[in-house]
Amino acid sequence: MKTQVAIVGAGPAGLLLSHLLHLEGIASVVIESRTREEIEATIRAGVLEQGTVDLLAQSGVGERMQREGFRHEGIYLRFRGASHRIALTELTGRAITVYAQHEVIKDLVAARLAAGGQILFGVKDTALYDLDSGSPKTRFYWNGKVQEIESDFIAGCDGFHGVSRPSVPSRQRHEFTRTYPFGWFGILVEAPASTEELIYAHHERGFALVSTRSPQIQRLYFQCDPEDQVKNWPDARIWEELHTRLEGTDGWKLAEGRIFQKGIIAMRSFVVEPLRYGRLFLAGDAAHIVPPTGAKGLNLAVNDVRVLAFALSRYFKSRNEEDLKSYSATALKRVWRAEHFSWWMTSMLHRFHDDTPFQHRIQLAELDYVVSSKAKALTLAENYVG
Ligand code: PHB
Repeated sequence: MKTQVAIVGAGPAGLLLSHLLHLEGIASVVIESRTREEIEATIRAGVLEQGTVDLLAQSGVGERMQREGFRHEGIYLRFRGASHRIALTELTGRAITVYAQHEVIKDLVAARLAAGGQILFGVKDTALYDLDSGSPKTRFYWNGKVQEIESDFIAGCDGFHGVSRPSVPSRQRHEFTRTYPFGWFGILVEAPASTEELIYAHHERGFALVSTRSPQIQRLYFQCDPEDQVKNWPDARIWEELHTRLEGTDGWKLAEGRIFQKGIIAMRSFVVEPLRYGRLFLAGDAAHIVPPTGAKGLNLAVNDVRVLAFALSRYFKSRNEEDLKSYSATALKRVWRAEHFSWWMTSMLHRFHDDTPFQHRIQLAELDYVVSSKAKALTLAENYVG
């Protein structure tokens, strides 16, 4: 096969890149190791920044998001048993939209297939070759035989565990990592919303988060041991932990319901530099990971491909390579902003196993400051809305 851009991975980064390139008249082929059913059912994040919403809408894939997504103009920080609102929209003029990542995936897959786009699902043994030549190759096993795509460029959008990043020679790769000594236990619940806006809660037993998917479906998380297992958490124990961490002295109550999904998420901060090797460009989780506390992961992926699609279209229109050359530096600037923000939110809200009473008081002092200083609240708000 021949195409202009071979895209490895049909997550938000790969699919949106393929869509944006199509709008610019640039051909691409997307390959994906999982099935369409799997990618459309994988439960991930749910918070879209204003810029993400605007890009999806402007590029013609935002219709269902605008109908079914929920616009939120604030979030709550909850500590010492009381909630404090951060007025995102009042502070920044922008808002967030709660719309699940797998819904974005469904919309993008539908748009690509409707436009005749090629997405090859269920490919195996993908390997990238000749990355530093003028015609890099993507080889994989699909439909009973070994296939090869020859392209002008390859976009590595295959996530943290994908093959793209390790295809860059290790001496050309600089990796920056921080792992956290905790994970998030996430559940999906059939219950009415307990709150109009997301609640980020600090508690001496650890962090908890109340999010939503719809008026009938709620998304809840609580900090846990990263080595813990779902089987150790029967429903009653989950509710007890959530009630303890979330409820306080102000009478606010968490509504219970039927739990229909449970999972544990690892927490990590990670960046690789640069985001380019020869004709391979890395985007999304293949290039960087943020802990979910700032709700930045999907939004960073979208920003990467916005920059990359623009740079590729300039190249194909006028052979101008300037924007391709600056892709890595441009995208990394925003990546590191989000890395800092996610690390800061994580550090302020979680319990660390080596925490002393001193550190606990320091966290509370910072939270008090965030909710009482307009400058500090604005810092949080402008980072949160993007
Ligand atoms: C979610 O709804 O899944 C969610 C919301 C906010 C976060 C992380 C995850 O910071």
